[in-house]
Amino acid sequence: MNKPFYTAVAVAAAAVAGTLLLIAGPHNLFDSKASKLKQIAQGQSLYNVRCASCHGKNLEGQPNWQTPLPNGRMPAPPHDKTGHTWHHTDDALTGITKLGLKPFAGDNYESDMPAFGAILSDEEIEAILAYIKSTWPEREQAYQQQMTQQASPH
Ligand code: HEC
Repeated sequence: MNKPFYTAVAVAAAAVAGTLLLIAGPHNLFDSKASKLKQIAQGQSLYNVRCASCHGKNLEGQPNWQTPLPNGRMPAPPHDKTGHTWHHTDDALTGITKLGLKPFAGDNYESDMPAFGAILSDEEIEAILAYIKSTWPEREQAYQQQMTQQASPH
């Protein structure tokens, strides 16, 4: 047994691993953070064009959003933490944005929420939802992630 030899190999290996981490680690972290920020910025400008007229420039929704309008339809709810958007899974949020409320609430359900499937690409919808989520406090973000994980088969 040549103990110093093995020690030297171990030290060298650790040094190589450390160097690789230094090169790859922070760089990758930086890249994914930057692309997330880019996605959120894109989502915000799409939100302002497509969603803000009803859901509010600051995601505050329409006034008295829990009381039906004279025509029986519901006003647009807030997308901030005071609403219930964060109670829904990713699939539900994507589905409602793409298809409107009918597939979820029934064919006879009349709603002012438009279906955006023909107007926005999947990536654009994902970006808008990423922006909406980015405005929630940690607790609401964690709750929504948990709902999404519980709903999807592992
Ligand atoms: C013309 C008005 C209008 C526009 C524009 C609009 N919505 Fe809505 N949205 C509504 C209304 C009204 C509801 C509530 C419908 C109901 O309960 O019948 C709603 C509900 C929702 C819900 C369900 C929320 C919940 O808590 O259950 C989501 C998600 C949603 N909208 C996303 C979007 C997104 C994303 C956009 C932009 C791409 C958008 N909406 C644009 C009117 C609108």
